[in-house]
Amino acid sequence: MSELQALHQQISACLDCSLCKTRTHAVPGEGPENAEIMFIGEGPGFNEDQQARPFVGAAGKFLEQLITSAGLRRSDVYITNVVKCRPPQNRDPLPEEIEACSNHLDRQIQLIRPRLIVTLGRYSLARFFPREPIGRLHGQLRTHAKGNVLPMYHPAAALHAGNMRGIIEQDFRRLPEVLAEVRNRRLPEPQPLAVPSEPPAQQMSLF
Ligand code: URA
Repeated sequence: MSELQALHQQISACLDCSLCKTRTHAVPGEGPENAEIMFIGEGPGFNEDQQARPFVGAAGKFLEQLITSAGLRRSDVYITNVVKCRPPQNRDPLPEEIEACSNHLDRQIQLIRPRLIVTLGRYSLARFFPREPIGRLHGQLRTHAKGNVLPMYHPAAALHAGNMRGIIEQDFRRLPEVLAEVRNRRLPEPQPLAVPSEPPAQQMSLF
């Protein structure tokens, strides 16, 4: 079993936050271990929770169209989410849920070492650039210690607000050009994973 498969198994059995109590299935992610592009969404919805696969509902259909429009196939890319378990009623993930899941995402990035990370929506963008608004960054390649990041709006935004569709489609059309650019760059060295903090060692009293 590869390290990524082992990580997927670990995520499927994860009990690190309360989302494990309401999920049907955890959704670790899917795609080739050597994928050049990693898409990171927000979190599983109803269909994803049922099928244990990311982006299989309406937003997923649109994401697949966008990937195809960029001359790629879904099977070429790795797709995952900030949180791996569905928040009840599809509410936004809470800061403690995002934090509990962050080591899983960091490990996925470390194992796959994608040339390009495409963030989908503001929660995903905030993992890399927490203070930057998506309205300013979308469609623009950014460099982060964890890799090359291309922020995009979440595909579900087009399903809720019709005028977003054209903007998202336009951003995705730039994907081949951005990919060509990052192929010429050196990948950053893998970042050490954050180790859960331990209580301070007992100080020996000198008095
Ligand atoms: N929305 C997401 O952010 N992720 C999914 O997997 C599905 C819908």
